[in-house]
Amino acid sequence: MRIFNSAYAHGVLTVYHCERHTSLATVSIPPSKMSLNFVVPPPKIEDREYVKPYLCGSGPADIWPSVYEAYARKVTTPMCEEHFHVLDDIRSGLQYVFQTKSKLVLAISGAGHAAMEAVITNLVAPGETLLVACRGMWDERAIEVAKRFGINVEVTRTPLHSTFSHEHLENELKRLRPTALCITHGDSSTGNVQKMQGLGDICHKYGTLLIVDTVVSLGGVPFLTDEWGIDGVFASTQKALSGPAGISPVAFSARAEEKINNRKHEPPFYFDIKMLAKQWNCYGNTRLYHHTMSPPLLHALRACIKELVSQTLEKSWARHATTLAHFHKRLQEMSVTFYVPIPEERLPTVTTLVLPEGYDYTEFCDYMRAKHNILIYGGVGPTAGKILRIGTMGMNATIEMADILADAISDTLKALNKSQHYS
Ligand SMILES: Cc1ncc(COP(=O)(O)O)c(C=O)c1O
Repeated sequence: MRIFNSAYAHGVLTVYHCERHTSLATVSIPPSKMSLNFVVPPPKIEDREYVKPYLCGSGPADIWPSVYEAYARKVTTPMCEEHFHVLDDIRSGLQYVFQTKSKLVLAISGAGHAAMEAVITNLVAPGETLLVACRGMWDERAIEVAKRFGINVEVTRTPLHSTFSHEHLENELKRLRPTALCITHGDSSTGNVQKMQGLGDICHKYGTLLIVDTVVSLGGVPFLTDEWGIDGVFASTQKALSGPAGISPVAFSARAEEKINNRKHEPPFYFDIKMLAKQWNCYGNTRLYHHTMSPPLLHALRACIKELVSQTLEKSWARHATTLAHFHKRLQEMSVTFYVPIPEERLPTVTTLVLPEGYDYTEFCDYMRAKHNILIYGGVGPTAGKILRIGTMGMNATIEMADILADAISDTLKALNKSQHYS
């Protein structure tokens, strides 16, 4: 085994101890005198032309100009007071966005999946039972995350285009008495929205915590964390908040907080909410170092929240609903079918459509991109090859965008018509 190693950079050769990583000696050597065995030559990194399309898939959505600006702000570090002000602003902003008075509100450094993993593994210990109400791709992911952590997972299902009745869920809670129920509010893989009002009370009757995925609904669809008795909730910035991916808000109720603070198990280190609460100063000026957060993402999330605060939640929800109503009215004039049959269950941020027989979903999306410079998606997971998924969320939730989309869809239906189905 090697004890010493050396590294050469900028004309200086450093000898260091392999295990301790301490430098033992440094010698200046001009590059011309060194024989360096590079096994990989510098690659060619070419800039390719990118004509930005309208981002109208199920996420990421287009980003507010103010968020772009914030993203490019000068980097702060945890040594700057400004950094802590940003954290404070985000926490108080998220209390508004989630509608919770809880102090345990922060953002996880990572995508929506990271927040999902953080909430599940902090609230449910290995060996405890998590009931997953599964109606799409994201619940399948919750099942996977929980199983890998050694949680006993029970699954209850409903057809993908439908949502759960509270009666169905109560029967399952009565039967299984799980530690937590995990359910998705808005499902971007199927395009439906689950009724949440009253579900918290039902869960609490059976000693169960309620965990909710609001990744594609928060900011675009009414959601009241405290009022609805939600115990653990996670979201993301890249959907109706119109920000970049990579930082994901979470919030916990007092019940959940008690479980976290008296837990007998260790969640993954990176997702340890007890430590993260101290890094985010949830309970005072603790300023614990846990990991290095991304300053551009923090600035961006703060700017997303600022946009929402200045618009207000009510107006943002109303803008999404009005856009959806207009878009759906236009779609009703075409030969497409809504995947979600009940209008009240259709998700205001993502519309799912079934094309008439003979159309190919990939070809349809490719044509929309090539001809209209609009990015929409086909199905994913259990809906792959069966539906289109079209996002009208965040800054794209406007009547203008709904018209641009409807005109492009109408044109694509005509252009790719291979049967007699289009009228
Ligand atoms: C409802 C829902 N949950 C979770 C996720 C996963 O989020 P991310 O891709 O940011 O990890 C998505 C992503 O589309 C989603 O729509």
